[in-house]
Amino acid sequence: MSRIQVGLIGAGGVARGLHIPGFALCEDAEVTIVCDADQAAASATGIARTCARYQDLLQENVDAVVIASPNHTHAPIVHAAAAAGKHILCEKPLALHLDEARSMLAAAEKAGVVHMTAFTYQFTPAVRYLRRLVQSGRIGRVRSVRAAYLMALSPHLLGWRSLKQYAGSGVLADIGSHLIHLTRYVVGEFASVTASQQRFRDDSESDVEDWISLLARFQNGACGTLEISRICPGRGAGISEDMFIEVYGSEGSAAFSLQDPWRLRVALDEDGRDPTRLLSTIDVPPEFLKLAGSPRDIHAHDARWGYRFDQAYQFIQSIRAGQGRTPTLEDGVRCQSVMEAALASCVSGMWTEVRA
Ligand SMILES: NC(=O)c1ccc[n+]([C@@H]2O[C@H](COP(=O)([O-])OP(=O)(O)OC[C@H]3O[C@@H](n4cnc5c(N)ncnc54)[C@H](O)[C@@H]3O)[C@@H](O)[C@H]2O)c1
Repeated sequence: MSRIQVGLIGAGGVARGLHIPGFALCEDAEVTIVCDADQAAASATGIARTCARYQDLLQENVDAVVIASPNHTHAPIVHAAAAAGKHILCEKPLALHLDEARSMLAAAEKAGVVHMTAFTYQFTPAVRYLRRLVQSGRIGRVRSVRAAYLMALSPHLLGWRSLKQYAGSGVLADIGSHLIHLTRYVVGEFASVTASQQRFRDDSESDVEDWISLLARFQNGACGTLEISRICPGRGAGISEDMFIEVYGSEGSAAFSLQDPWRLRVALDEDGRDPTRLLSTIDVPPEFLKLAGSPRDIHAHDARWGYRFDQAYQFIQSIRAGQGRTPTLEDGVRCQSVMEAALASCVSGMWTEVRA
């Protein structure tokens, strides 16, 4: 079996921290070339072959590309990669707006390539087990969801992430896209949202929101709140930032925190039916600690980081199988649809339907 050759586009933080180590664990795949507009960044990866233009990388004999460059570059690169017949792993948020995201999905589908959106936190053990608890009916009918993604402003958030023309929106696109995908993954599709946003940075280097909150209604009748903020001193940045999702159902509850990815807090069975009982902490069952077949040693990395490498494994497995699995570009489009409805609601002040 020949090794799957991967071309990496963008050699910044996420490429170095997540994609390169993730593919290094996949014995049947290798990153053979790196493209970055900044040649010093490309060379710093240690991967011998580099180029400065993605158009040149797409001429190379690679089976797949990882698009890990800033948000505004995702759409043109996805279109070009699909036209070149390359399998695609594209970073989140998929696009700057919904129509752009839809055209990217259509291009990938037309080309018949395997496609994936890098909603990395889907691979968190506690999230996978939380979804299982919801889907198996252990917490009954979901009534409400309380979710948040909170972090402190850090220097890496300056630069392109602070300008609409490169990022699409601010904290919503950057980390809210993760929270929206995970909430969909666990609870189901959004039906409508209303939202409010605020920009606290008042320098000319930023024209986007630093805080946004959504009230949401889901297609299954559940309701919820999502708060997304990068102005929370003490909430950390990078590995220490926190995201949580709490799901309250007719038969019980379950709550996940990104800071404790091998455990859940739950009230299930008797505890779920007795209003005097409080949430208690349980371990995630061992089969959820990594994807089945993943080459990863679960003890080799900090529990808050290692699961991220399963994303590369799933991408390679999907290419081998000739079929993508969630999170695909369609998940990227659905997330974009929720973000677009939230931003429209911030302007209109009205509840806004999430377009399918
Ligand atoms: N999945 C995750 O958990 C996760 C984490 C961080 C970032 N991201 C996403 O990854 C993407 C990159 O984020 P980052 O933090 O690595 O940014 P970064 O600023 O650290 O790196 C981006 C790199 O892309 C390069 N670049 C810019 N334009 C380019 C082009 N046209 N062609 C090739 N290279 C180009 C830059 O020179 C830079 O080296 C963003 O879309 C971001 O939202 C995802």
